[in-house]
Amino acid sequence: MKNHAKARAHTNIALVKYWGKANEALKLPTTNSLSLTLDRFYTDTSVTFDDQLPADQISLNGTALEGPAAHRITTFLDLVRTQAGISSKAQVTTVNNVPTAAGLASSASGFAALAAAASRASGLQLDHKQLSRLARRGSGSATRSIDGGFVEWHKGFGDRTSFATQVAPADYWNLNVIAILVNQRQKQISSSVGMKRSQTTSPYYREWEKLCKHDLKKLKMAISNRDFNCLGTIAEENAMRMHALTLSAAPDFSYFDADSLKAMRLIHQLRATGIPCYFTMDAGPNVKVLVEPKHLNAVLAALTPAFGANQLVVAAPGPGIQYLT
Ligand code: DP6
Repeated sequence: MKNHAKARAHTNIALVKYWGKANEALKLPTTNSLSLTLDRFYTDTSVTFDDQLPADQISLNGTALEGPAAHRITTFLDLVRTQAGISSKAQVTTVNNVPTAAGLASSASGFAALAAAASRASGLQLDHKQLSRLARRGSGSATRSIDGGFVEWHKGFGDRTSFATQVAPADYWNLNVIAILVNQRQKQISSSVGMKRSQTTSPYYREWEKLCKHDLKKLKMAISNRDFNCLGTIAEENAMRMHALTLSAAPDFSYFDADSLKAMRLIHQLRATGIPCYFTMDAGPNVKVLVEPKHLNAVLAALTPAFGANQLVVAAPGPGIQYLT
């Protein structure tokens, strides 16, 4: 017997970041976080449970996955199998739709798409809250990729209470995010390793937990008032404080490279000339710029001479999970 489903999930960019776990096995975060789902970057995953298969078969962008990456997916599929009461192995085919070799392949869209496709193929019928709890077990940031638009991940105090909900849909606020692809190399320190080191060694970690609470309150206010300057200021400050945790960890590390710093400086300069734009960065050197559509061309014109048009990808708020079959 074969049971099949295919789903699409978009990636998200956190405006108030998740950077630390209260429980590693369940991926419960230390703080709430809030993100914007993006239309431009997404993952399509199809899952077929087939009782004739001797083992899970997983392919990513046309190549068979092996080793730890395949193990992570099999472990995730085991959760689905247990929940659904089945034992069949699965054929998993995943395609990441990101600009070629952009270094933006994301575990957020990946595990959100896998959670949706695998649960549906297994016969489970999960609502968004249950799906986001499931996606969380694959990767923390995937918790926020089940819904579109602005999404908050409530840290909760256990598996049942740690999930994401939509704060406002994608069409609530017309914003742009310019991804500046400064570097396409694989990151050396994964988010999981980076956040753990920050949490266990940075003397500022407790302060970060307090700040996130405060930032989240202000961000939700900015979203409800559609106050762009307030949203951008909080996002930029929160991102830099997260990166300060890496710089203050022992041993210290950083996701910045020379081009990231160049991009940040350019954004500061543009802002000084009266163009409202703000940056954020995740656990890699690419810089994402928040800008309103009316100032998009001015920001692109300023960034293009420094980075080249093919390193700049413009995104907008994106939708939640979609079932393709
Ligand atoms: C900097 O979700 O990749 O993007 O839960 O260990 O898989 P794991 O980590 P991951 O971490 C994302 C960190 C971040 C901030 C964010 O998305 O909130």
